[in-house]
Amino acid sequence: MAEGAVVRTVGEVMSRSVVTAVPTETIAVVSARMVDHGVGSVVVADGDRPIGILTERDLVRCAASGGDPEGTKVAEWMTEAPATLGAEVSAGAAFAKLSEAGYRHLPVVEDGALVGIVSMRDLMKVASIEPVTHPGHIEAPKGLAGVIVAETEVGDVRGQEGFYHYRQYSAVELAEKRSLEDVWHLLFEGELPTDDQREAFLAEIRSHRVLPEAVRRELPAIAAAGTELVPLDGLRTAVSLLGASLDFQASLDISADELRRNAMQVCAVIPTILTALYRLRQGEEVVEPHPSLGYAANYLYMLTGEEPGAEEARGVEQYLITTIDHGFNASTFTARVITSTGADLVAAVVGGIGALSGPLHGGAPSRALAMLDAIGSPENTAAWVRDAVENGDRIMGFGHRVYKTDDPRSVLLRSVARRLGGDKADFAVQVEQAVVDTLAELKPGRELYANVEFYAGVVMDRCGLPREMFTPTFASSRVIGWCANILEQAGDNRIIRPSARYVGPPPPQPVPEP
Ligand code: ACO
Repeated sequence: MAEGAVVRTVGEVMSRSVVTAVPTETIAVVSARMVDHGVGSVVVADGDRPIGILTERDLVRCAASGGDPEGTKVAEWMTEAPATLGAEVSAGAAFAKLSEAGYRHLPVVEDGALVGIVSMRDLMKVASIEPVTHPGHIEAPKGLAGVIVAETEVGDVRGQEGFYHYRQYSAVELAEKRSLEDVWHLLFEGELPTDDQREAFLAEIRSHRVLPEAVRRELPAIAAAGTELVPLDGLRTAVSLLGASLDFQASLDISADELRRNAMQVCAVIPTILTALYRLRQGEEVVEPHPSLGYAANYLYMLTGEEPGAEEARGVEQYLITTIDHGFNASTFTARVITSTGADLVAAVVGGIGALSGPLHGGAPSRALAMLDAIGSPENTAAWVRDAVENGDRIMGFGHRVYKTDDPRSVLLRSVARRLGGDKADFAVQVEQAVVDTLAELKPGRELYANVEFYAGVVMDRCGLPREMFTPTFASSRVIGWCANILEQAGDNRIIRPSARYVGPPPPQPVPEP
């Protein structure tokens, strides 16, 4: 609590002159008394003990039922054994109790005897001088760790088991058995496609892959921005332009079908935008989407201008499938918060890109690969990690908020890396074990294992993706997960608006004259 904060009690703000009634009085007599005293309720007492409360709401209910006020007794309509408050209770706690239960008045007792009555209005008057009380609010742990903030049918992560799923299927099994487009269909439509549905879905994707003219025109300028353009920043700008050029409307104002169409347009064109930005940056011509290649092969094709080998295309596809969705991670949560305001789809996607860009979220795979370079040889690992941790640095590609065991994505990608072969894959396996062992020694009990980012860099590097495209490539699949969440949020929306605990100097302080 902020130093100097004033805490007012119920005893200080309550009214001591309580208007009372007895159960045998008639409704007519007691309602006349309420009017005379200008109060909205009476406490029904037996001697000095409150045994009931009769409010204006009860009078309305009684009148609506056609009851005769002259012949109806208070006992028939009062709320028996009402909740009470002690005079020593803080005004904040009292406010919480009233607002939670929906009461407007509560009797105040001392040793069971009625001493006063407190109303919502009494409590509201002092609310402004109680800076750190948040009546009725629940304190969430820092970083919202472990807090459930929504219900979803998109998927979930079971950290202790090292398992995650998209809808009802294991995400890893989907990555082993299905194409990216099938999984995309699963997330948008709620089911894996039949052959006919797949054909229609692929045709729909193809129709949205080509750059809209307004975006194509501006891409060279975006690609030329800054001396060290981060492609994800370029994507953020281009996606924002895309939404404006396609006239996306507020999600609150459009139908579910139209919002879904917006989602398809954005997800389908992002690979084209990313690869175009990269090539323009290299001084090369933009490569148009290949009409008959699948998502991952087309992505590599648009990047390099050459059709990739099947192994490389599948390696990238499996990486992309594993990263489509992952519970309420920071970027997905961001996208849902923005959607909850009714904003258009692209606003939510741009917000997601911003959240993903941070090194603690999506910005780690190139750093993990840079770490492998810096370590140089497996026997250097322990000393390197020790130095870094003693220096207060994080080991990129290790640790996870939810997984306290092997990250299933890193397990899958380790096997993909091994299948693809190459020096880096073997080296990474040796380094992984040494990092895990050293972290276990230096940070005991923290359960730090390789996360998705560690092998992501190795796989993408092996498949010919340049390092600066690692996080953008992650964004190109995660946008499908964001959009599935955006569609779900918009379909059953309530604005996400939590509270913060104010811990600054207690207000109101007098504003100094200039
Ligand atoms: N290297 C060294 N120590 C670590 C690491 C790490 N990679 N990760 C966590 N720790 C330590 C922390 O120093 C802390 O130790 P302390 O108790 O002595 O303070 C303890 O483990 C707990 O760390 P938190 O920061 O509380 O863990 P949190 O759940 O908040 O963070 C995160 C998770 C951000 C992923 C973290 O593990 C990290 O920074 N990892 C490196 C960056 C990374 O790989 N990010 C990609 C994540 S995967 C994804 O977003 C797709």
